[in-house]
Amino acid sequence: MMPADLPNRSVEFFDTQFRRQAAAGEYALNPFEQAVLPFLSGETLDLGCGLGNLSLAAAARGCMVLALDASAAAVESLAGRAAAGVLPVQARQADLRNYAPSQEYDSVVAIGLAMFFACPDAHAMIARIRAAVRPGGVAAVNVLIEGTTFMGMFTPGDYCLFGEHSLEEAFAGWAVEYLKFDAFPAPGDTVKRFCTMVARRSR
Ligand SMILES: C[S@@+](CC[C@H](N)C(=O)[O-])C[C@H]1O[C@@H](n2cnc3c(N)ncnc32)[C@H](O)[C@@H]1O
Repeated sequence: MMPADLPNRSVEFFDTQFRRQAAAGEYALNPFEQAVLPFLSGETLDLGCGLGNLSLAAAARGCMVLALDASAAAVESLAGRAAAGVLPVQARQADLRNYAPSQEYDSVVAIGLAMFFACPDAHAMIARIRAAVRPGGVAAVNVLIEGTTFMGMFTPGDYCLFGEHSLEEAFAGWAVEYLKFDAFPAPGDTVKRFCTMVARRSR
């Protein structure tokens, strides 16, 4: 996929942001990435990896990571940093809307991705994440939830605000090892509300 083929306005938004951050060397883990990092191990799939700060941190802790994102800027930056650090991260550009992993992983991560699809696609993605986790492995997922009023990064008609308990329901029967709700103020007196969950599949 070439930059001109970015799948929607949301990816354009992030591609521009990532170019600026890469130029400025801004590579800090965000709070959601920091929270899920200790739960990751083994073969890891990072969906919507962005600049790949979590992928690199997981690789530094011994994970072997496949990191996917539609943003060319993100993937170029991550591939360069992984090579420079000799870290086991494969970074690839991909449109993940209908992406189905071709194997199971010990850890499947999607921090801040699924909300950028209309709800049927978003929930289907969560189901595919669940199906791609090996017995004993984890899914680490973060989404925007109802009550969010900041719309600036969405493509109109192509986004999903999850229900407050959607992730817990989607991973029913798994052991919830981390669950947190956050609210952050956003431009124009709006708010972003997030749910972050790490759930472990039984062996
Ligand atoms: C909120 S950012 C999260 C990035 C990273 N996980 C993090 O926590 O910093 C959302 C990411 O989803 C990616 N994304 C959005 N729509 C996508 C699509 N259709 N296919 C692949 N990636 C997409 C964007 O490029 C961006 O990197």
